Amino acid sequence: MNRQQSLFDSSEDIEQNVDSEYANKVINVASVPMRSPFRYPGGKTWLVPYIRTWLRERGGSDKELIETFAGGGIVSLTAIFEQLVGRVTLVELDEDVAAVWQVITTGDAKWLADEIVTFDLTVESAHAAIAQAGQSLRTRAFATIVKNRVNRGGILAEGASFVKQGENGKGIRSRWYPITLKHRIVEIDQLRDKIKFIHGDAFEVLRINQNRKDSLYFIDPPYVKAGGRLYRHSTIDHLALFEQASHLAGDFLITYDDHEEIRELANRYGFEIRFVAMKSTHHVQKNELLIGRDLSWL
Ligand SMILES: C[S@@+](CC[C@H](N)C(=O)[O-])C[C@H]1O[C@@H](n2cnc3c(N)ncnc32)[C@H](O)[C@@H]1O
Repeated sequence: MNRQQSLFDSSEDIEQNVDSEYANKVINVASVPMRSPFRYPGGKTWLVPYIRTWLRERGGSDKELIETFAGGGIVSLTAIFEQLVGRVTLVELDEDVAAVWQVITTGDAKWLADEIVTFDLTVESAHAAIAQAGQSLRTRAFATIVKNRVNRGGILAEGASFVKQGENGKGIRSRWYPITLKHRIVEIDQLRDKIKFIHGDAFEVLRINQNRKDSLYFIDPPYVKAGGRLYRHSTIDHLALFEQASHLAGDFLITYDDHEEIRELANRYGFEIRFVAMKSTHHVQKNELLIGRDLSWL
């Protein structure tokens, strides 16, 4: 597989099942390069066209994008690969997810990529790799990659189970694309000096940076409903998040599922709301909210 193919080969990723309506036309997310080493539940690949519009207007080489609640980090990766900002910082609380980002951003990416391409994935070897997670940062990162590929829906939270049949009856190997993963990890490594990762709490990072005028914030918290099944850290104080956002000197974009409580909070803080229609390949229409101080770029 060549490099270009590996970027656009979205067949392995759950997010590909989502198109979004953008400027009255449906965008096919297969046209968005897949750059994350994760297949992430609640991943925002479908939002990338909006992110490009936002950052072309508000970004620039003198700006830093801070992605709190980073998960698979597709927004930061897109922003840095497409030179929409000068630097990115990803923030994630989950220890397993953090281990992958820590290994990649601290110079150990090649080790992880090699480990992936030499791994013979079976049910037994997957269990063994996952059982070794606690031995070191490296083993935790590798175990996370394996879990993310063999668990149903890529879910890393406790209680998630291995895929049974998988796609085309390929079972546990149906989402295991080692060469694609290696390419993605190696490419992120090449931009490592522009990518910072913080294993920590989104609220604290927002507070520390709140007076900076040269930073932008992409904020994608766990949803009000359904978060608990998907993430280990799924409960946050939504009111506190809006309060914190109101103190940010830099521009921000918050995404949420459409929920009465969230609309009320946005109104209370005088933020603008736009509804974005998303459509799955199963033709289920769903509204997501984009929230910001000034969404005139949209
Ligand atoms: C909706 S997901 C983010 C998905 C991401 N935008 C993507 O495209 O892959 C929310 C993430 O927030 C993380 N999280 C929850 N509470 C957090 C906190 N207080 N600080 C940082 N991350 C947190 C969860 O572990 C989860 O990975």
